[in-house]
Amino acid sequence: MIKFTVISTKGGVGKTTLTANLGALLADMGLRVLLIDADVQPSLSKYFPLATSKPSAGLTEVIVRGEVTVPCITATIYQNLDIVVSDDPEGNLPHWLLNRIDRGFRLRFALQSPAVAGAYDCVLIDTQGAIGPLQDAAVLAADILVSPITPEILSAREFKDGTMELLDRLEPGSALGATLGPMKAVIYRQDRTADARVIASGIRDDFIKLKGRVSVLDTVVPHAKAYKEAATLRIPVHRHERKREGVAPSACTVMHQLAWELIPSLQGVYAESIRMQERIA
Ligand SMILES: Nc1ncnc2c1ncn2[C@@H]1O[C@H](COP(=O)(O)OP(=O)(O)OP(=O)(O)O)[C@@H](O)[C@H]1O
Ligand SMILES: [Mg+2]
Repeated sequence: MIKFTVISTKGGVGKTTLTANLGALLADMGLRVLLIDADVQPSLSKYFPLATSKPSAGLTEVIVRGEVTVPCITATIYQNLDIVVSDDPEGNLPHWLLNRIDRGFRLRFALQSPAVAGAYDCVLIDTQGAIGPLQDAAVLAADILVSPITPEILSAREFKDGTMELLDRLEPGSALGATLGPMKAVIYRQDRTADARVIASGIRDDFIKLKGRVSVLDTVVPHAKAYKEAATLRIPVHRHERKREGVAPSACTVMHQLAWELIPSLQGVYAESIRMQERIA
């Protein structure tokens, strides 16, 4: 089982969109995927239709019990794709966690529960774009951290400073110290202007200053209306935009490249829905 946490100290960069679409693609490739909505604003919980209108439990139970029980998991309408919904609209969980000495590790240990370990091939955790105890717990639960970064100068600066602060705070020897998974930055929502390209290459150079703790993926997710459209339709973007006119690659191509880069053993594996469409065509 491989665990990814999608993290950014800045809000609105595309974390939820990335988590949902990557999870849905991996599920369509045949992996058993569990999404975890660790944002108190439950956007990921609402992203895809659920198989039930009223989940029996969710993140609160996971964090408070320190265990993932079967009722904490809700199926989506998509095969192989389940979710632990966020059910803390008042935002009590971060406060509850702050008073726990094991706050950094509660989610990590919870994911060792039999309902998760052995039952899923991949866990993807979405977080809130800020710093706090829930984000720390999500970071410490991951094997790999994925961080979308938009190539505007302010966002790029915020990424470097915010990420440095996060990694320093959680690295071994610090109060919550643990070995952190490698962080992979994804240049996200890149538009076609030269300016965005220059800033993107600047971001790559800046990583030397992050002491090699962060690498930048080769896959770049462009700014494209397909991502918003797919979110409105509540379908995975790789199904929504399979082919595209023009130079920019389709969302289907981009998402496959991203999945292959993050999990190299999947190289060359395509989503079942895409293979079926090809057979029909
Ligand atoms: N590749 C893309 N191209 C264009 N728009 C996008 C793309 N990806 C996401 N968006 C849009 O950007 C907005 C923010 O995305 P999203 O909600 O995923 O960000 P977030 O980082 O999860 O935000 P928050 O910090 O509030 O949780 C949404 O309206 C989404 O539809
Ligand atoms: Mg979000």
